[in-house]
Amino acid sequence: MRLLIINGPNLNLLGMREPEIYGNEGFDTYLQRLRAKYPEVEIEYYQSNVEGELINKLHEAGFSCDGIILNAGAYTHTSIAIADAVAAIRTPVIEVHISNVARREEFRRHSFLTPVCKGVISGFGLGSYELAVLDFLVVKNGLPNS
Ligand code: DQA
Repeated sequence: MRLLIINGPNLNLLGMREPEIYGNEGFDTYLQRLRAKYPEVEIEYYQSNVEGELINKLHEAGFSCDGIILNAGAYTHTSIAIADAVAAIRTPVIEVHISNVARREEFRRHSFLTPVCKGVISGFGLGSYELAVLDFLVVKNGLPNS
């Protein structure tokens, strides 16, 4: 199974950016741990601070990979163009947020992406990305035997 994680603006600064909200770990080390934990899943990664580049990546991957995990950062709350791109592609997209956006400022409570995404995972720290991986795995393989 091939998944793509797309991170939007300012998420390149994870580990340094507002650690009380986003934690102390950079995304590179988290991604290494995630890949090691799920070796059966091919996890590609893309980050950009530029709205059009995020859209280009959605177009590029959106007809080939099995799932996209999208943290569009602040574009979540502003970008009709990214929402249109998610609606245009075939691959299912899960919207993720590191922080619990519903507990923060009022302007973070609205997402243009939620109506076009499969679902939203918000507030579990970097674990939000793993929960999205697990959803794609369960859809593909069913629940693991205990
Ligand atoms: C975020 C939440 C957004 O409101 C914010 O603009 C971000 C990060 C999160 O992961 O919690 O950049 O998407």
